[in-house]
Amino acid sequence: MPAISTTNLTKKFDRVTAVNSLNLSIEKGEIFGFLGPNGAGKSTTIRMLCGILEPTSGDGQVGGFDINRESEQIKKIIGYMSQSFGLYQDLTVEENLKFYSRLYIADRKTALQHIEAVVELLQLDPYRKQLAANLSGGWRQRLALACSVVHRPQLIFLDEPTAGIDPVSRRILWDLLYELAHGGTTLFITTHHMEEAERCNKIGFIWKGNLVACDTPEGVKQGLMHEQILSLKCPDLNSAYKYLRTHGLVKDVNLYGDEINLVVENAAAAIPELKKSLAAAHLMVETLEQIQPSIEDVFVSLSKTTSNG
Ligand SMILES: Nc1ncnc2c1ncn2[C@@H]1O[C@H](COP(=O)(O)OP(=O)(O)OP(=O)(O)O)[C@@H](O)[C@H]1O
Ligand SMILES: [Mg+2]
Repeated sequence: MPAISTTNLTKKFDRVTAVNSLNLSIEKGEIFGFLGPNGAGKSTTIRMLCGILEPTSGDGQVGGFDINRESEQIKKIIGYMSQSFGLYQDLTVEENLKFYSRLYIADRKTALQHIEAVVELLQLDPYRKQLAANLSGGWRQRLALACSVVHRPQLIFLDEPTAGIDPVSRRILWDLLYELAHGGTTLFITTHHMEEAERCNKIGFIWKGNLVACDTPEGVKQGLMHEQILSLKCPDLNSAYKYLRTHGLVKDVNLYGDEINLVVENAAAAIPELKKSLAAAHLMVETLEQIQPSIEDVFVSLSKTTSNG
C-alpha cells in the first residue's frame, strides 16, 4: 500500500479549481517533490492531505487513513510545516520545541530526548534561549522545521521549507530529510528551487490544478522534454544573445554565466545551421554542443507548453 495516494482529488474555491482531479501515489520512504508555479495548487493539495481542508470531491489515503473520514487519525501520524508555520514569537526556541513535542508525545522524558536530537541535528543549540521573534528568517525556518519533525512522524509535509534560507542551511536541511527518508519516513515537499527537485526520488509538476507530469527526475527529463538544449560559448555573448533571440531555429535563449543556453527542436540539425548563421553574422563560436536539460529547463518548457495549449 502506498504511503500517500489520491484518486481524482479535487478542490474548488468559488470559481477557481485549485486542484483538479489529482491522482498521486507515493511510496513509504520516498521523497516526493511537488513543483509548480505560484498559485498552481500545491499548498491546497497539502492541506487536503493533512486533513485541514475538505476536498470538493475525490479520495485520498495518508498512512492508511482516509482523508475524508479519518482526518483526526491523520493529524496524529504526520508532521506539517506550512508556508506560514505558526511559531510562538514570545516563546524561546526551546519553549517552542517543548510546546510542539508535548502536543504529540505524552511522556515528558521521551519528548526531551527528541528535542535534544533535533536541536543537535539542526544546530539550534546556540539559539535555545532566544525568542522566536528575534531569530533571522532562515533560523526561524529551521526552528519551524524542528517543531514539525520533533515528534518523529511517519509522514512529513513540508510546504516550501527552504524558502529564504541560505545554501548552507539548505544543505543541512536536506541532510536531515535524507536521514529521515532512510529511516522510512515519507516526505512530501514543495519547492521553487529546481536543484532541490533533482534530489527527490520522484517529482510531480502541477499547473493550474492539473498534474502535468509525475516521474523520477531522470524520467521527467527524458520523457517530457520535447525540446533539446544547446550550450554556446563565444567571445561576444551579448551580441550572440541578441542575434539568437530572433533566429528561426531557436525557441528560447537564456544567458547562464559565461554561456548561452538555446532551446531547439532538433539539436543535430540545428548545430550546423546555427554555426553557419553565426558565422554569417560575424559572430565567433568557441563551442556549440548539446547538453542534458536540467529540471529547470523542463519546468520552463512544461509551463510554456501547458499555458499555450
Ligand atoms: N481559501 C481560499 N479561498 C479561495 N481561493 C483560494 C484559497 N486558497 C487557495 N486559493 C486559490 O487556489 C489556487 C491555488 O492556490 P495554492 O495556495 O494551492 O497555490 P500554490 O501552488 O501553493 O502557490 P505558491 O507557490 O504561491 O505557494 C490559487 O488560485 C489560490 O488563489
Ligand atoms: Mg503554496
